[in-house]
This record gives sequence, structure tokens and C-alpha cells, in this order.
Amino acid sequence: MKTEIIPTILVNNFKQVEENIRAVEKYVNWVQLDIMDGVFVNNETWPHSVVPGKAKRGEKYSQEIKKLKKLKTRVKIEAHLMVEKPEEEFDEWLKAADRIIVHFESKITSRELGIRELIKKAKNKKKGIGLALNPETHYAVATPFLKDLDLILLMTVQPGWGGQELKSWVLEKAEALRKIWPKGNIEVDGGVNNENIDKVKKSGVNLICAGTYIYRSKNIEEAVKELKL
Ligand code: DX5
Repeated sequence: MKTEIIPTILVNNFKQVEENIRAVEKYVNWVQLDIMDGVFVNNETWPHSVVPGKAKRGEKYSQEIKKLKKLKTRVKIEAHLMVEKPEEEFDEWLKAADRIIVHFESKITSRELGIRELIKKAKNKKKGIGLALNPETHYAVATPFLKDLDLILLMTVQPGWGGQELKSWVLEKAEALRKIWPKGNIEVDGGVNNENIDKVKKSGVNLICAGTYIYRSKNIEEAVKELKL
């Protein structure tokens, strides 16, 4: 199974979104946008950060997402919704992203039914759909959905901020999930760098997100290469 390095973009405005995509688009196939509403996590990122009020949507929010839809780039974009109510913005992201990741811990209407509904919506629009689990969430919660999901994202940090230390014990969760999902896409996100990349790969994950290590490096191309090795 091919390992993908996925740079993660945690910024406050669309100009920075575009800059960060341009900075890596020659070296990777996917980027991840960290979408934070200030409620599910105590941090706000684009587009929530440019629309007044907490976890707000509406015209201004839709206008912001339209900028992403218009952006021409070869990379595919996954939107990691770290928001309290992903159903309220899911349709918007279906228009602009290639894959959408929702958190099991977010407030999805009647959870299992709601997740199934989101999976159906994504499939209808031929978009990818992933389920993210915070470090403390057991992977067993995902088993009812495995045959329909494009990926499971195992957070190796508490969501909300870049630059945290990778929680190595989450890699045991990845190994256990790989055993029951041999062909599935297992993604990790948070604290990945050149020092822990080998043990991350050994855990059996095949999609590896990195934000700080890539974007804080002196040479982004080298940093991506280092993780791909
Ligand atoms: C954390 C985000 C991660 C983070 C990446 O809430 O979901 O994507 O930005 O973490 P680092 O910067 O440690 O790779």
C-alpha cells in the first residue's frame, strides 16, 4: 500500500491557505486543511476565523469556501473538520474538497445514523469520506463503518494545535486497526517528524500528516523527502 505524506495547513486566512498549498503542490498528492470552529477545539482557523461569531456559517462563510473551489492546483484537498456540528457545513465542503474527515466525537445527529448519512452524501458526490478519532477514542467505534469509509484518521495529538508531541501509544491503536482493516487507509495526524517517522510507518499506517515539521523546515522539499524515505 503506497504511503502518502500529507502536509497539514492550519492557518487563519485564505491567502495563507493558497501559499501553503503552492509551497508543497510539486512534492505531494494531497494536502489537509485543518478546519477549526473554536467550539469543538479551542482554536479557530480559516474560514471560521474570518467570519465573526463562534462556529458561524452563512453567506460570508460560503464565499470563503468558494475561493478554495476556484483554486487551481494539482493536489487533492481533504478538509479535516474539527467542528462541533460538521453536518452544518458538510455540503459546503463537498463542493470544494476532494475528501472530508469528520470527528466521531463531534455532535453528529443520532451519531451512527448521522455518520451513515454523511457517508451516503459523500458517495453521491463521488467525494472521499473519513472518520477521525481523538487519541482517547477506541478504534472499535469505527468498525460499523469500515466497509464504507475511505479512511480512518487516528489523531496522535489532541486536536487544536500544531507543534505538539506525538502520542506514541496511539500507534498501538493503528497496529490493532490494521489487523482488522488490512486494506483500509489509516491516517495519523499530529507530531510527526523525521525522528518518529520510522516507528509511525512500522505501525502500519499509510497516510501520514505533518504540519510543523514540513512548514517550519528551512527546505520544504527536503522535509517532505525526509518523511517519504
Ligand atoms: C492538530 C491538527 C494537526 C496539526 C498537525 O489539531 O489536526 O493537523 O496541525 O500537527 P503537527 O504540526 O504537529 O504536524
